[in-house]
Amino acid sequence: MSESPTRLVTAVILVAAGSGQRLGYGMPKAAVPLGGEPILMHALRGIVASGAATQVCVALPPGDEPLRRLCDEFREELADGGPLLSVVDGGSTRADSVRAGIAALMDGIEAVLVHDAARALTPESVFHRVSEALAAGAAAVIPAVAVVDTVKTVAPTTGTDASFAPEILTGTAPREELRAVQTPQGFHLETLLKAHEAAQGLAPNESAAVTDDAMLVEMLGTPVHVVRGSTQSLKITTPLDLILAEGLLEGPLGARWVEG
Ligand code: CTP
Ligand code: MG
Repeated sequence: MSESPTRLVTAVILVAAGSGQRLGYGMPKAAVPLGGEPILMHALRGIVASGAATQVCVALPPGDEPLRRLCDEFREELADGGPLLSVVDGGSTRADSVRAGIAALMDGIEAVLVHDAARALTPESVFHRVSEALAAGAAAVIPAVAVVDTVKTVAPTTGTDASFAPEILTGTAPREELRAVQTPQGFHLETLLKAHEAAQGLAPNESAAVTDDAMLVEMLGTPVHVVRGSTQSLKITTPLDLILAEGLLEGPLGARWVEG
């Protein structure tokens, strides 16, 4: 068997600066309790447990003192030899928060994993698959899972049809080719820098349509490689997702639930 390639010096940018509107808790999503601890703590512990990072750059809602204190406490908890934990103010969009994280990267970083705090239960194995593909030479790597629903495209209905249905079907995407994409998304540093530089030149409607970092790399024409994600890596977005996440931690599946 061939030896695994040497791991790149890697930073994780953890974006946690969103307001959590859809969760509807009246507080930033990173602060919402999950299994008795804020979502942010689950995300941080997962990253540290994976051993994937030399540095963790957390983007928090600007001025959020409780979340900052939580990071300070976690820094003290980290044993010697753990990653450097940096905290930055996030921006008004997710991409702005990623850029704030990029600006705080320490010298010597070769690869960056951009991760959503909202995917707080991502298993270590997903971090490993992304890091290994980067070390093997991929410039951009994303984890993804097969889509279970049949996915169709629609357009607004026009004319009299609008009186009984707001939309009309325009096509059916071939399901075997579809993937639901997750984080951490991994990039060689120079690829991520180029992608975010190019993003600065987008029109407002174009940048609003950019929902992940891989889209920016696609726009550069750089190949993006796909590795297996995990259904355990769900993005906590709505109250139903929070119930699912609680169930994964405490429910009947309990500790048995570790999906590679
Ligand atoms: N995020 C961020 N900065 C922003 C917006 C989002 O760092 N300005 C982060 C969120 O904290 C989250 C991830 O990007 O970890 C994915 O965003 P999303 O799930 O949409 O979270 P929120 O924006 O907080 O939720 P909502 O859209 O419901 O308000
Ligand atoms: Mg959002």
